[in-house]
Amino acid sequence: MLELLRGIGEEVVGSGKDGCIYIDDAVRRMEALSEEAPGSVSLIYMDPPYGTGKRFEVRQKVGAREWKSGRGSLVLPAYDDKLPRDEYLSMMRSVLTSSKKLLSSDGLLFIHVDYRMHAHVRLLADEIFGESSFLNEIVWAYETGGRSKKVFARKHDIILLYASSEDYDLHTDDVAEVPEGGRRNHMARRVDEDGRTYRQIVSGGKLYRYYDDEPVPPSDVWSDISHLQQRDPQRSGFDTQKPYRLLDRIVRCASREGDTVLDPFFGSATTLEAAFAAGRKFIGIDINPLCAVLAERRLKDAQYRLFCPEGEGAPELDALAAPGITDTGVYLNAFEPCDDELKQAAPSGYDGIDNWAAGRLENGVFLAEGREIRSKNTPELTGEVRVPLPGGGLVVRVSDILGRRFFYRLQN
Ligand SMILES: C[S@@+](CC[C@H](N)C(=O)[O-])C[C@H]1O[C@@H](n2cnc3c(N)ncnc32)[C@H](O)[C@@H]1O
Repeated sequence: MLELLRGIGEEVVGSGKDGCIYIDDAVRRMEALSEEAPGSVSLIYMDPPYGTGKRFEVRQKVGAREWKSGRGSLVLPAYDDKLPRDEYLSMMRSVLTSSKKLLSSDGLLFIHVDYRMHAHVRLLADEIFGESSFLNEIVWAYETGGRSKKVFARKHDIILLYASSEDYDLHTDDVAEVPEGGRRNHMARRVDEDGRTYRQIVSGGKLYRYYDDEPVPPSDVWSDISHLQQRDPQRSGFDTQKPYRLLDRIVRCASREGDTVLDPFFGSATTLEAAFAAGRKFIGIDINPLCAVLAERRLKDAQYRLFCPEGEGAPELDALAAPGITDTGVYLNAFEPCDDELKQAAPSGYDGIDNWAAGRLENGVFLAEGREIRSKNTPELTGEVRVPLPGGGLVVRVSDILGRRFFYRLQN
């Protein structure tokens, strides 16, 4: 049994150079960030609650067996989307006001909503950003789900696009794609001397030629990105997860390598993963600590800072460190859940662990030097990580499957 440590709210993975994750209220954290670093963010994408009146869930996988089968059995609350409209709009007013301060002069803001709050949020954002800063209403159309007979089936979301100023930097060419089935079908199809098919049109005395194999930037209707299917391999278990391709498109056309991309409601961390993969820095905020666990899994190769309050309760941990010639092995021997909820969900102690790390404390910050994270490719925890020598002063951090983090000082 090791000493449980309290008051560690920050963890750094590697140098922390790739981004920051905050488990916090978006209103509070956005306000703080906009005071600390105004004008420092190039792209903000937000996918807030939509005012659905529903409760959303996360399906967690418990233990190696469920990771192997790909099916999670533990259903946990993701978020309650039940704010009364005035409270919802007051939250959005605050987050949008901070967004305006945080964006650089060439920055862009994407607000993802649906038919419920779209009109309200549009008016609010017009007021805060100015009507002339409104660039697009993107319709993301998809075909998943059933068909209602009482109304026309609702098969699209709205993504509002605003610019920070006239100097905004949107490069739609970077996300141009060759359209399926060619382009401009109403024009006569011709074949040139090299065998390439094209359409052409004369307008204002000028001849325009469009080749079928040439990439075209998207219009404001995005129907080429499907919603996640039931058994989609991308699924993280988070109810309102958005497809990676959607965020990849937004990140690549609205920011450049090295820029900072921020998502104040990051959920399952789709934006953070897309930003990291495209060489952008990321900032993610979410109020639910479980989202940190999802983000860590999707950002396994990233170096970042994570700010997350530790969990309540005191599970028992047994671990030891064995210094070797080139590094130190840290071995996790036992983990005893501190409450019935976890005991019921994961009767075998190890199954209650989502991921764990060993490292050192520096000025109250935990430096994670060795980590094990369960994922599809690594369903089992070996219970061993390697950290650099020397072996003294080590701390172990365990995150359980409920998203709670606990820190322990290793006494040998
Ligand atoms: C629609 S989901 C985001 C889904 C995300 N785009 C994805 O791909 O997984 C909305 C998120 O907002 C978070 N949230 C709700 N209220 C919040 C608040 N006041 N501060 C921070 N996050 C909040 C919820 O926990 C939830 O994860």
